[in-house]
Amino acid sequence: MVFKDSFREAEFRVQLPIMCPPNRKIDVNSLANYEAAVTKHTDLELKICFDQSIITGTTEVSIEALAPEGLSELVLDTSNLKICDVSVSEKPTQWELKPMVEPHGSPLHITLDRTYQKGQTFTVKASHVNFETRKDSSGLQWFSPSQTDDKKFPFMFSQCEPVHARAIFPCQDTPSIKTTFTIRIHSVLPVVSSGIPEHDLIFPPVIDLKETKLYTFKQSIPISNYLFSVASGNLAGEQIGPRSYLYSQPSALEASVAELKPDLAGIIACAEELIYEYPWPLYNLVVLPRSFHLGGMENPVFNFYSATVISGDRENISVVAHEFAHSYSGNLVTNSSWEDFWLNEGWTVYIERYILRKLRGEDDEKFQAMVGWQDLIYGIKSYGGDESPFTRLVLDFKGSRPDDVMSKISYEKGYTFLCYLESVVGKDKWLIFVPHYFTKFYCKTVDSAQFKTCLLDFFASDATATEALQAVDWESWYHKPGLPLKPDFQCKLYDNCIELADKWSTLTADSTYQPSPEDVHGWIMGQFLAFLDRLIELRTPVPQKYVAQLGPVYGIDASTNLELVSRYLRVALQAGSQEAIPRAREVLAETGRMKFVRPLFECLVAVNRDIAVKTFKELRSFYHPTCVRLIEKVLQNEGISF
Ligand code: BES
Ligand code: ZN
Repeated sequence: MVFKDSFREAEFRVQLPIMCPPNRKIDVNSLANYEAAVTKHTDLELKICFDQSIITGTTEVSIEALAPEGLSELVLDTSNLKICDVSVSEKPTQWELKPMVEPHGSPLHITLDRTYQKGQTFTVKASHVNFETRKDSSGLQWFSPSQTDDKKFPFMFSQCEPVHARAIFPCQDTPSIKTTFTIRIHSVLPVVSSGIPEHDLIFPPVIDLKETKLYTFKQSIPISNYLFSVASGNLAGEQIGPRSYLYSQPSALEASVAELKPDLAGIIACAEELIYEYPWPLYNLVVLPRSFHLGGMENPVFNFYSATVISGDRENISVVAHEFAHSYSGNLVTNSSWEDFWLNEGWTVYIERYILRKLRGEDDEKFQAMVGWQDLIYGIKSYGGDESPFTRLVLDFKGSRPDDVMSKISYEKGYTFLCYLESVVGKDKWLIFVPHYFTKFYCKTVDSAQFKTCLLDFFASDATATEALQAVDWESWYHKPGLPLKPDFQCKLYDNCIELADKWSTLTADSTYQPSPEDVHGWIMGQFLAFLDRLIELRTPVPQKYVAQLGPVYGIDASTNLELVSRYLRVALQAGSQEAIPRAREVLAETGRMKFVRPLFECLVAVNRDIAVKTFKELRSFYHPTCVRLIEKVLQNEGISF
């Protein structure tokens, strides 16, 4: 331990002053000329117009030229933006918004007032209006008052990862570029964004929409543009830790605080013990309206969370552990392109499960890992199977929309790979490498090749570790599609629930077996999830007479935790149970989180196509555009077109 700490400090002294050198690897998902020029600072001034569902504003970027031959044109990413005018170093200039190149958007070409030599700096200011439509995947979701919980005030939020920042403001929309921010947002409702607020952390209660206020945020740690965020609505806040505040719609605040406050300090302490001190002065959480399509999003300073995390049983803290872990893996050390997305998510899952082991014990951690393995199997099936290029660790987009290619596979295959490397060098040594990695790439970006070099260099003076690392088949881990080698999940609790699942897998309509609450007495949540995952995988579904008992006898249908309820409904729908349809429709109307919505639609469409289509049509305007695209694909795969 002593060695680890002093080692870390020494590294910090060397690394901190070095700021984000540009990464020269081509990011196929950006049309900006980021290899020739780099954004150093971004000054955003935005106005949220709820009545028209648009954001207007100006963006001023401070740019440093990098091109050895000099720079006379700057190209920024935009998507569905109307550009009103552009100036360079305060003087109007020529510019052209080129036609849309699907799926990347319309590049904004700006003629500079002269050729800037490498190292010279200038500012570019653009005023713009975002005019995104609901039908395209874009950065913002807007709600009318009737779509919110309190029905009184509108709400809006952004989701920029992976490539939607360009749909809000013109920028170099590649994770390989990092910029500091000053963010000024005008709104009639409270605002959160990706920086340290300069206003009071507790908003006064919202009474009406009469007064537009200015909310200012400063982000002095350089971040990639996908980490920009904004949410505005009737947000109420409460302090839940020395440097943490929680925000939600007022009606959800009490339950959210009760759910998340007890574990927060532990989560922060564990991550800090594994890596190093959290560098921002604040860590806040925002619980978004129910349609938020993700479990969480690691927007710096204000993480965004799905309302489904507030399940009433404190069983979803792994989501908070996950998003908090991104403060390090993603927000400080960032994948240099989305092809190396596993470096963001695989590391984050690794840290998440490290935290979980410390807080809830080894069994909980193991169960998360097993449920994760199940997610990996489902992911590989849904993304084309064992031969599909989309199931590789290092992704290859080949012109696809990043949202369509990025999946849970990167999380779980990445996690499995990191655990494998941990086993290769040995846990004690690995735990010294972890802070080294996060120090070496502090405020920088990293790709898969650099990760490998970093690991091999770190252990170069350790003959035993180096020899062990020579056996790693990097080529297969990085580029071979399909499932990797299955880790050895040894766990008595797991054996118990699989034993019960095996019993259920043999049941027929004529069986005489009587399930009893005793079967699941004392089970932890992970056991229920692993048990149900096993039933979902069965080739022959569970007979309906038993499905009817599964909910009441095992107490599953009383749960408010959608991790549990959604799995139960999948088992029931796969068994053809008509009784499960109304509850499935309720869940589909209760959340827009894709993790639950997608498999439920897959099951619903198999049981009753008409009801699936009807349900989708009813809920379409509630779902986020990215979720809409996903469900359209599910239905199209079944031959249903729109
Ligand atoms: N950074 C991701 C969300 C994301 C991934 C947005 C890819 C856009 C593209 C976030 O940290 C995340 O992983 N969310 C998970 C929950 C988590 C507990 C695994 C989710 O939403 O499912
Ligand atoms: Zn994540």
